[in-house]
Amino acid sequence: MQVPAHVAIIMDGNGRWAKSKGLPRTAGHVKGAANIYDMLHVADAMGIKYMTVYAFSTENWKRSQDEVMALMNLFRQYFKKSFEESKKNNVRIRVIGDKTALPDDLRDLIDEMEEFSKDFTGMQVQIALNYGSRDELRRAVTKIASEVKEGKLNPEDITEELISSHLDTAGIPDPDLLIRTSGEQRLSNYLLWQLAYTEFYYTDTHWPAFDKAELEKAIEWYNTRDRRYGNAKE
Ligand code: FPP
Repeated sequence: MQVPAHVAIIMDGNGRWAKSKGLPRTAGHVKGAANIYDMLHVADAMGIKYMTVYAFSTENWKRSQDEVMALMNLFRQYFKKSFEESKKNNVRIRVIGDKTALPDDLRDLIDEMEEFSKDFTGMQVQIALNYGSRDELRRAVTKIASEVKEGKLNPEDITEELISSHLDTAGIPDPDLLIRTSGEQRLSNYLLWQLAYTEFYYTDTHWPAFDKAELEKAIEWYNTRDRRYGNAKE
């Protein structure tokens, strides 16, 4: 079976999972966060090289203050834990999204985590945090426009590769497989540019209940697809 090199995940359904168990929404996020951790280990053992997970969108600030705070605390907790784990497993961790709007301490922690793991050559993990694809494209266009204004770049030099190299995912190959849990089939402003040739897989399972067997099922399904338009771009 062919294992996709890059799997992107929209981890939906933490709230619904909690509700189905009579628990508060934040309990769903706690279980969801623990599950990312478990699934990264599973993915690594399967030989998946890149994983990109949607942890917090630019729209998620609209949730209740309590829920936003609970999520920020989970990020703090797991990022602190990531130093030891990334070293042990040779995993590089990066955050994609607009970090400037995050609380100062969290941004500092992210900078440290990225710096600490930057030379690890095993699995490459991208965590999308305060991420929105349109915002990422807007930021990339701003950077490109500044380079043109400064005379470093000519408009004719703006190729697809140049645009890719100005995105938060610069240097990371596009995802081969996108998984969205919990029944929705929207893209929710996730990796719009990068998913141009990606296979989309949906499951009704809520993220906290998405396990090894579910990931294997997604990869089996991926193997039934004809990847004519994959990264190879025939
Ligand atoms: C969707 O559930 C999930 C999120 C808002 C983001 C995912 C966040 C985590 C898994 C927790 C922490 C992550 C890290 C990196 C430590 P939902 O609340 O939209 O569920 P619902 O649609 O059922 O309400």
